[in-house]
Amino acid sequence: MNPHIHVHLLPALFAPEDLLGGTAVIIDILRATTTICHALDAGATQVIPCLTIDETHELTSDYPDAILGGERGGEKIDGFDLSNTPTEYTPSVVAGKTVLFTTTNGTKALHHSHHAEEVLIGAFVNLTAIIVCLSDLQRPIHLVCAGTNGEISNEDVLFAGAVTSGLLEKYPNLELQNDSARLALDFWRLNSQNEAQFRQSMLDSQGGRNLQKLGLTADIERAGERDLFDFVPKWNKQTNAITI
Ligand code: MLT
Repeated sequence: MNPHIHVHLLPALFAPEDLLGGTAVIIDILRATTTICHALDAGATQVIPCLTIDETHELTSDYPDAILGGERGGEKIDGFDLSNTPTEYTPSVVAGKTVLFTTTNGTKALHHSHHAEEVLIGAFVNLTAIIVCLSDLQRPIHLVCAGTNGEISNEDVLFAGAVTSGLLEKYPNLELQNDSARLALDFWRLNSQNEAQFRQSMLDSQGGRNLQKLGLTADIERAGERDLFDFVPKWNKQTNAITI
């Protein structure tokens, strides 16, 4: 059976039950899913996604040695160890540690997808690994764009289009289940003709503009790098842990 693919341009555009029986890929390119991949590559044992700052602090009683990471308004949270800048998650800081992680949009998109049979973490830094992983699946695929503060954001749609395009190469008969999948695919094709164009579309995106205002252009560049990692992080709903 060819995979079926749905793109959800925002979490608000689907009900959690719509994902029953499917595989969800959570996409928050700038920057939550990129950062989660970096943390795990740097040797973090697990990333625990938390919805609120309070919940993050409360979990330190279960994980006393944990590193606290994430952002609000794009900036480091008071009392946290790390912000949401991927390159802060180095082996010297996170190896062997649990990361308790909360972000404005990414961790919410993840929890909204809890009815999916399987939940994966996708970003350009593990693009090919995601495509390969999905190629073996027999379940409907749901690409879940986190967006930015309730608005659709180009960088997440770009990635959804890149995954759709990669799967279409393997399965020319891939069924695009909604027009959001067609939009994402067209958007990717339009903006990935060359590296300069891809880079510009990342910079021009909603998330990209926000980060530039905060002086975090280097994070956009890092998030646009493809295939730094060959693993696919998975979220275990029972333990609320993301691991590889
Ligand atoms: C989020 O989850 O809202 C983002 O990752 C935002 C950011 O990194 O600034």
